Amino acid sequence: MKIRIETAPLLKTKADAWLIFCRKNQPLLPKASDSAMQKLEKMIRNWIADTGFKSRAGEITFFPSREALPSRFIMLGGLGEKEACAADVMIKTAGAAARAMRKLKIGSVAISADVDTADPSVTPGNILEWIVGGLSTGHYRFGKFLSTENGRPPAISLIVADARNSKKKLLSAAREASVLSETVTMVRDLANLPANEAPPRVIAQHASAWAKKFGLSCSVLGPRELKKKGCRALLAVAQGSDHDARLITLKYRGRNPRLAPVILVGKTITFDTGGLSLKTAKGMEWMKYDKCGGMAVLAAMIAVARLRPNNPVIGILAAAENMPGGGATRPGDIVRSYSGKTIEILNTDAEGRLVLADALAIAAEYKPAAIVDLATLTGACIIALGHVLAGIMGNNATLIEELKIAGEATGDRVWPLPLLPDFDDCIRSDFADMKNIGDGSAGSIIGGVFLKRFIPPNVPWAHLDIAGTAHLEKEKAYAASGATLFGTRLLVEWIKQREVRE
Ligand code: BES
Ligand code: MN
Ligand code: ZN
Repeated sequence: MKIRIETAPLLKTKADAWLIFCRKNQPLLPKASDSAMQKLEKMIRNWIADTGFKSRAGEITFFPSREALPSRFIMLGGLGEKEACAADVMIKTAGAAARAMRKLKIGSVAISADVDTADPSVTPGNILEWIVGGLSTGHYRFGKFLSTENGRPPAISLIVADARNSKKKLLSAAREASVLSETVTMVRDLANLPANEAPPRVIAQHASAWAKKFGLSCSVLGPRELKKKGCRALLAVAQGSDHDARLITLKYRGRNPRLAPVILVGKTITFDTGGLSLKTAKGMEWMKYDKCGGMAVLAAMIAVARLRPNNPVIGILAAAENMPGGGATRPGDIVRSYSGKTIEILNTDAEGRLVLADALAIAAEYKPAAIVDLATLTGACIIALGHVLAGIMGNNATLIEELKIAGEATGDRVWPLPLLPDFDDCIRSDFADMKNIGDGSAGSIIGGVFLKRFIPPNVPWAHLDIAGTAHLEKEKAYAASGATLFGTRLLVEWIKQREVRE
């Protein structure tokens, strides 16, 4: 997305469309008494009165200006109540505008970034980041296999009008936001590939090509190395599939390589049939998106390589396909994980925690400042939090709070679930150090309890269960169906914020 920052007022800005934000049915326009502004205000008021536009969060409407103004279309974007999560609302509203723009073949949009929010710490730079992020996510669609998709969609260019004294800050916010959006879009195309097009080997190929392009180091372990290393929990998941497992490690050295790294770990199951504990046909329909934790981590690593924060950052993707082939793991099988702890696999559909068990134990060896894992881990998380927020659990209240704040600042919202020691007993096994399931109650927490076993107690760790937020099953006004890459923006923001604090 091309972005231009201008000091000229919106009304003097030529663009295919002007996007004007509204609250309480009032357009948020700079106060001005000239006749062009009065004409515009009148047109908007009439349109609102005639159409019943309510300026609800994410609501969008548009009308042609019929040459009365220097812009072909006037778009209105509702922002709802001031008190709502500003990032979430701005992203959805800009997203809905971008989806409308795509249909109208609009190539350029001008906005005025003066938006009021309830939180005084929100800067015009933040607003711009949300608008850029929203336009980019909304404009996206996965067209690779659509015969009707002829060529690339028109790129949008964004003109920010009315920029006053903070032009330089706005420009750097715009640059960061467009690098992040470009990265998300690129990896989203991989996340949307179906399982036949993206087995673990292909994920590793993409990761290593991008690592080379953006200056990350990348190492890939295949089945032989994994066996030698003792990653038997990861291998147990892959053994029913014709496609071998991969453990992919990406490293960003940091501008200060002596700092302890933060480690991002992603569940990357390229397809989850459930294994011999087979899922129903319905339960399998969306399981090509079971790699989305890893995809969010991959995108965050590339964004980090491009934005160059101080801290070293390491990303680990545990990639496997969970299939019920003749060699598949049987319920009751016991494996020794990389950590040395043994696991009784009572349900082969609880596979995410198995691949993460090895990845987390390896992560802990780097003596990291923190580990954050992202995983589409449990259906129970969707029961608890729906598709609105991800669940978060961990062993460190400060880390959880940091991530919650980063989530609110980026629209990737998370909500804590209690990882109390009371649950420890639920995964006790008579035959191994633990079993991989509980009794079905507190499903998401049990996932967390299991993962916690592979984290040394002195390492701050958080687990994000993104089962409900990693993909959209139906298109929304603000986004196409498919992978969302939920978590990428949160992770990048969290890494940036750590730098500010340190
Ligand atoms: N990948 C699924 C979780 C999932 C379900 C993600 C629906 C997105 C939508 C995971 O591997 C799984 O199958 N979890 C089981 C765990 C159970 C066997 C303890 C589940 O949620 O049923
Ligand atoms: Mn499963
Ligand atoms: Zn799964």
